[in-house]
Amino acid sequence: MPVNILIGTQWGDEGKGKLIDVLTENTDIVVRFQGGNNAGHTVEIGDKKYVLHLVPSGIFRPGTLCVIGNGLVVDPISLMEEMLDLKARGLDISVIQLSTKAHLIFEYHKLADALNEAASASGRKIGTTKRGIGPAYSDKAARIGIRAIQMQNLAEFEKTFREQAVKYNCIFKGHGAPEMDVDAAWQKVKAAAEFLNPYITDTVLTVNRAARAGKNILCEGAQGALLDIDHGTYPFVTSSNTTSGGACTGAGIAPKYITSVWGVMKAYTTRVGEGPFPTELKDAAGENLRKVGNEYGATTGRPRRCGWFDAVASRYSCMINGVDKLAITKLDVLDGLDELKICTAYEVDGQITEDMPSDTRALNEVKPVYESMPGWKCSTADVRSYYDLPANARKYLERIAGLVSAEIAIISVGPKREQTFMA
Ligand code: GDP
Ligand code: IMO
Ligand code: MG
Repeated sequence: MPVNILIGTQWGDEGKGKLIDVLTENTDIVVRFQGGNNAGHTVEIGDKKYVLHLVPSGIFRPGTLCVIGNGLVVDPISLMEEMLDLKARGLDISVIQLSTKAHLIFEYHKLADALNEAASASGRKIGTTKRGIGPAYSDKAARIGIRAIQMQNLAEFEKTFREQAVKYNCIFKGHGAPEMDVDAAWQKVKAAAEFLNPYITDTVLTVNRAARAGKNILCEGAQGALLDIDHGTYPFVTSSNTTSGGACTGAGIAPKYITSVWGVMKAYTTRVGEGPFPTELKDAAGENLRKVGNEYGATTGRPRRCGWFDAVASRYSCMINGVDKLAITKLDVLDGLDELKICTAYEVDGQITEDMPSDTRALNEVKPVYESMPGWKCSTADVRSYYDLPANARKYLERIAGLVSAEIAIISVGPKREQTFMA
């Protein structure tokens, strides 16, 4: 039975939550492997809409185990609130497991995130979600982070938490920034720790025993490949490995078990936050994509920047992720357009390249080389099979697949479960 990885191939918000929900109909375990509550994964079932931040998007399939892996940074208060909210909405949260090795995010990380952004010169601001992601991963790499397992010994946990909080307060004071009330913060953290303790377990054992037993496992990525700390548009990235390689370390599963990689790819491009975006449309066409696609951040509500499909960035993404199968989402958002553009190459200093430059500043300067395709000018929202798509929509999809050298396996034409079909 397969161990599949699902990742976003662009700058996040490709529709990963929806696809995970669709693919988990016959999945035993879903494992989130990186990121934190910077993610916002939307799942629409019937007339209900859910936005998940930490809980894997397999939670809507009864009996599917939902693992929050060691590669995450987890805000315990947010996780508790998210779990209680799901429970209040009638979902079974007993299927959730939190890795002993996941690192924790506290208020001081969020304050440090805000301080870093405020102190950054213009042009250096990242436009983070201010969820404390960067500072928590920094603490992990500096080996001063606090892990979920420490919540199981409250006395020792309190001591370490207070030591760290006092250290961070000194930094805040030095910058004239607001300090945190350590006592008040501890009371909230303690309540979350008590709530979460029954869910904390060695999830690496859970996942490996399941893999050996031939169970069907799906590893859920957050963010997108172009936000990867190594391979994305650094420094305008998040602080984890969002690419498929991150699934092995972040879920604790060996590469030999991985069967295939799903890449979720929007039929156009969006980005939220700062950083280069060669095909961005800053005109009415971009505004139209934002409006029709309802492109507003699921976590922060910020308007997403919108642009044409970028085959250079997407081809690079498929390469570094080893994408076997693509799920193309939001095709319906393009329904009303007369003409569509695809960026097939970049022009850099008069030279044409089909490769993604590793110099992020250079990416700011590139000129996209476009090819145009005619639109299809009719609704695809009710289409349920590839051959019922308008011919121009099929041509557009075939062109994208050819340019990124990957096979399209699923097409999504709306936010609902049923608005999905195999290619
Ligand atoms: P994620 O972070 O990758 O899970 O994506 P988000 O949930 O942040 O953003 C995707 C948005 O598009 C959500 O509001 C989804 O409900 C919606 N969505 C997903 N697939 C489709 C689709 O095929 N068509 C349309 N119109 N909306 C979709
Ligand atoms: P999902 O999983 C889109 C972006 C932020 C910012 C950068 C760094 O829903 O696709 P961070 O708070 O992580 O330090 O911010 O990354 N970002 C996302 N953009 N979708 C996400 O997640 C994102 N998570 C972080 O906007 O530019
Ligand atoms: Mg999202």
